[in-house]
Amino acid sequence: MIVLGIETTCDETAAAVVTDRREIRANKVLSQLDAHAPYGGVVPEIAARSHLDHIDRLVGEAMAEAGLELGALDGIAVTGGPGLIGGVIVGAITAKTLAQVLDKPLVNVNHLEAHALSVRLVEPEAEFPYLLLLVTGGHCQLVSVEAVGRYTVLGTTIDDAIGEAFDKTAKLLGLPYPGGPEIEAAAARGDAGRFDLPRPMLGRPGCDFSFSGLKTAVAQTVERLGPGPLPPRDVDDIAASFQAAATASVLDRTRRALGTFRAAHPRARRLVVAGGVAANSALRAALQGLSAEEGWILSAPPPALCTDNGAMVAWAGIERLRLGLTDPLDFAPRPRWPLGEVRAAPS
Ligand code: KG4
Ligand code: ZN
Repeated sequence: MIVLGIETTCDETAAAVVTDRREIRANKVLSQLDAHAPYGGVVPEIAARSHLDHIDRLVGEAMAEAGLELGALDGIAVTGGPGLIGGVIVGAITAKTLAQVLDKPLVNVNHLEAHALSVRLVEPEAEFPYLLLLVTGGHCQLVSVEAVGRYTVLGTTIDDAIGEAFDKTAKLLGLPYPGGPEIEAAAARGDAGRFDLPRPMLGRPGCDFSFSGLKTAVAQTVERLGPGPLPPRDVDDIAASFQAAATASVLDRTRRALGTFRAAHPRARRLVVAGGVAANSALRAALQGLSAEEGWILSAPPPALCTDNGAMVAWAGIERLRLGLTDPLDFAPRPRWPLGEVRAAPS
């Protein structure tokens, strides 16, 4: 089975060709970072127009790299949400047109589902169920992944996503967008013990996240040290203190989710971390420590499959197609689409 995957929900235009034998024949990702950088975040209108300008060419390039004609495809998968709706519509229309003209099955993939299943593209041994920590610029969730289309959200953020917190902190420190890698680099030089920032939700019942209080604490610290641009030393120390606080909070929430998940699935032993923030080595090290402590396996898809890409969409399409889950040409793109509302195969 060979499937084309299309992703346009945020600021990456992506097209990929993947087979059910786990071959990634092409994985083209065009980042719009330069277009959004002057604004310190993604501008939906700019994103949608940019997707429209590039998606056709990117699909062509992916097919050429895969060495295939469009007719060789067994299906077209596209993220139909959640995301910035202008971009989602561009991807959906592209996929619907291809599916109609080529008379191929169409699969409407939930973006979070694509992140959730991406580990299975590279690790065949990642069998259901597993516990997923999804950490991106738009989402922060702990999910029990039980089967294709069967996801139980154990915890989610009550305010900002973790990537958003990294990006906002970077902005407060005068670092460029996206802030995650900048904070990580600054933190490596800084002293995490210098500022006593709050560790949100630590010890609280449940598995929800919160990052807005931490962001406010960073803003107050910056204000106290001001006015004017901060010296590099202060930037590095705040970055290190922020990263330590955010990591401690995520670790606490994950430990709790692990307990809940284990009660329901006593034999399961796999924690999967995915999303752009999974690239953070402090977070990875903390999760590795937790997994070792619990006798669990930590799986982290390679960074190219962790950040937004078309291969994860194509793979989710393959997983759904194998179960006969296809979608009609008139499916509606969705700006909001919780994982709990994803359709599963009838059991
Ligand atoms: O998954 P992703 O590429 O896009 C979505 O949001 O769906 O995640 C992007 C987020 C951004 O907020 C970025 O700052 C963050 O991932 N990020 C990082 C790192 N690399 C990227 N955060 C912390 N440390 C990093 N090394
Ligand atoms: Zn994403």
